[in-house]
Amino acid sequence: MNTKPITELASNIGQEVTLNGWLYNNRPSGKVQFLMLRDGSGLCQCVIEQTKVDDMLFEQLKHLGQESSLSVTGLVREEPRSPGGVELVVSDAHIHCEATDYPITPKEHGIDFLLKNRHLHLRSLRPWCIGRIRHTVIDAIRRFFNDNGFTLVDTPIFTTIAGEGEQTLFEVDYFGQPLHLAQTGQLYLESAAMSFGKVYCFGPTFRAEKSKTRRHLTEFWMVEPEVAYIDLPGLLNLAEDFVFSIVQRVLKDNRSELETLGADIASLEQIQKPFVRLTYTEVADILTSERTKTFMAEQLAQFQAEKQVLETELAEIEAAEAKGGLKKWKQEKNARRMLEIRSELVELEVKIENNPKHARLAADFQWGKDLGGSDETIISLMHDRPVFVTHYPKAAKAFYMKSDRTNDTVVENFDLLAPAGFGEIIGGSVREDDYEHLLARIRKEGYNPDSYQWYLDLRKYGSVPHGGFGLGVERTVAWITGEKHIRQCIAYPRMMDKVYL
Ligand code: 4AD
Repeated sequence: MNTKPITELASNIGQEVTLNGWLYNNRPSGKVQFLMLRDGSGLCQCVIEQTKVDDMLFEQLKHLGQESSLSVTGLVREEPRSPGGVELVVSDAHIHCEATDYPITPKEHGIDFLLKNRHLHLRSLRPWCIGRIRHTVIDAIRRFFNDNGFTLVDTPIFTTIAGEGEQTLFEVDYFGQPLHLAQTGQLYLESAAMSFGKVYCFGPTFRAEKSKTRRHLTEFWMVEPEVAYIDLPGLLNLAEDFVFSIVQRVLKDNRSELETLGADIASLEQIQKPFVRLTYTEVADILTSERTKTFMAEQLAQFQAEKQVLETELAEIEAAEAKGGLKKWKQEKNARRMLEIRSELVELEVKIENNPKHARLAADFQWGKDLGGSDETIISLMHDRPVFVTHYPKAAKAFYMKSDRTNDTVVENFDLLAPAGFGEIIGGSVREDDYEHLLARIRKEGYNPDSYQWYLDLRKYGSVPHGGFGLGVERTVAWITGEKHIRQCIAYPRMMDKVYL
């Protein structure tokens, strides 16, 4: 038996092959059936002509339920209209497990239902495309660091000290000793960087963040590089090359998935170096400027115009449906489009409602505050390439960030905002490398210096300028795929209010 994955069919035209997979859907049409099979690598149209297979098998396949597992054997034929440009002319099939009443059908399901059925939903086209892109992103991340002289250091998940503020720690009872789940591997990486020079860690990260936004998970994956002898411009260049390399890899390896998802490929192609570099103070000035006021008003007008266009299209489709007499394929097409329009309208309503609130928050922005999600969205909407925001106020940022020695009110840090309104995907900084300065910051935060003794030690024995950053995988995947909520960008999401399975 010549078993092949669907992705290899194009190089097997004229050959007889066997595919192992699951029934995606079936369109019987008289004496022919068009069965769509998925095998994990892709989708293939399998043509079953009544004259070419056993009568009983023909009938059995006709009534086979969605997601039944089966193997099909047949001849690979060129067919430009089929996914992958080929189809299989079936001569035989073997059914392994008949599925009846598969709960996830092509009709619309609510997000709650889909997450409750995530174990099955992962087989659907959208999660599959996102999962493939996530895989590429992770591979590109590892490749970038491995190819650029970094050593992987696995930092612990049970940790003794807080990196990112005590309010988002998950405490665990570690044989009677209170420990917490890693919020970051950074502090450990700083010690490893003094051994290997350039290091990175990559693993699950936990934040007891009381936040239900589309950008927050309680368990997410973060990659963190840390480099000895680096300054802020060097860090920005590293982050720029890194993000650029990820986008290029996805564009190269996952174009068809991006197309299926309706991702904005043209915008991804526009991502070029150098990225925009702004200081926090410049961002504060932009937010409170007339330019932003006008920009927000234009945005609102654009949302309202888009809403009108969609409402008109919806009314036209509804009228055509009410009139009746439409072919089945047209009815199905209309049903799909109506679903899309309704969900786009819901999103537009939210944008229209939020716009004045966000405009007000921006206009009232006070120097000294951390940037809020809506502020980041505005700045990133104003740019078509990623934006670095550097030099935040010291009081708004973590204790380990090095204060700017020319202006003690700010730190040598940066966030990277993805373009087109997505917002932050990276946070990083140069680290405080002076013992006394760091001790003072630890005390000021109200932390116990004894718990940070080993971390302080690094500033006693051969301290050097060093820094690094963390990139959130799910946020990066959401940005690249255009997925609205990061819960769709991990197989089994963990959120503040719900853990489904
Ligand atoms: O800005 P953050 O908190 O930075 C750190 O943890 C540093 N210690 C990293 C470092 O310098 N080594 O988080 C970094 C990134 C964010 O930009 C975001 O992409 C992601 O991690 N992130 C989250 N992703 C999903 N859900 C959450 N609750 C997240 N919190 C942070």
